Amino acid sequence: MAAMKQFLKPVLWIYSVLLGALKYLFTPMLWKRITLIEAICLNKRNWYHDFTSLGIKTKQFDDPSYKLSQEQKDGIILNWIDKYIRISESTPFMKGVELFCADAYYSFHAINAGVGKMLALDLAEDSGEQRSGILKQAEIIQKILSIPEDKLDIRKYDVMRFNEKCDFVFVFGGLYHVENPLKLLSNLRTSMCQLIFIQTIVSLENESVDYFESPAPGWNWGSRFSASWLIRNLELLDYRIVESKLEIANYNFALRDRGSLFLVCQPVSSDTV
Ligand SMILES: C[S@@+](CC[C@H](N)C(=O)[O-])C[C@H]1O[C@@H](n2cnc3c(N)ncnc32)[C@H](O)[C@@H]1O
Repeated sequence: MAAMKQFLKPVLWIYSVLLGALKYLFTPMLWKRITLIEAICLNKRNWYHDFTSLGIKTKQFDDPSYKLSQEQKDGIILNWIDKYIRISESTPFMKGVELFCADAYYSFHAINAGVGKMLALDLAEDSGEQRSGILKQAEIIQKILSIPEDKLDIRKYDVMRFNEKCDFVFVFGGLYHVENPLKLLSNLRTSMCQLIFIQTIVSLENESVDYFESPAPGWNWGSRFSASWLIRNLELLDYRIVESKLEIANYNFALRDRGSLFLVCQPVSSDTV
């Protein structure tokens, strides 16, 4: 079985490269926007997100957890983008930031909702997960959707150093990737943004308000904590919890990885919501 897999790997790789090249040759719209090499990358099965909701079919990693996790996040986050940041006269959001952006999927949705400018940050191959190529993937989508760089700025950057002013911040799939999530949340407190949207994995094995450990169990990086620990510390940092949902992360098996917490928070001094 293992030998069969080893044999099939290069065959599938050649098939996917040829298919990418063929799609490119028969899609004149793509010629103008991306190169042949980029079209081949677009056809690879190594995407974090499926961009079908933005009109582009990308192939996610074989591991079904990517699809399940995106379905769960989309169900909540895309509704929140509609509810809190779709541009109207009463929500004049001009600049948003997506921390831990990977292929910047949620930045594209924010731009679609009318946000003037998004800054998307990820450490890519230098992060604990060592995800090479994800920022390049974001740039390919940016070209296909013809979004100019002054509207979407994609940067390789350590989120722990982020301290720019902005209207709102997305922190999806990220807090448990850093050793000191409270330092990041405290930095964001001074960046004067009006709303912070969070999704993070939390432990269902230890739900105590004091539970925090770093590195995360089973990893030599990141952290793990309970939902109550995070909420209590956000309140201590003077954030008001505007909305919260605790879902089961059914794409993870261990109880310590099985909570998926979604929060909308607002610095107490701010009163936009
Ligand atoms: C689980 S993915 C989240 C992707 C996306 N935000 C989502 O929720 O669907 C976590 C991402 O965080 C990035 N990352 C981890 N530590 C980082 C850091 N200190 N600075 C910037 N990016 C980081 C990783 O490279 C990875 O792309």
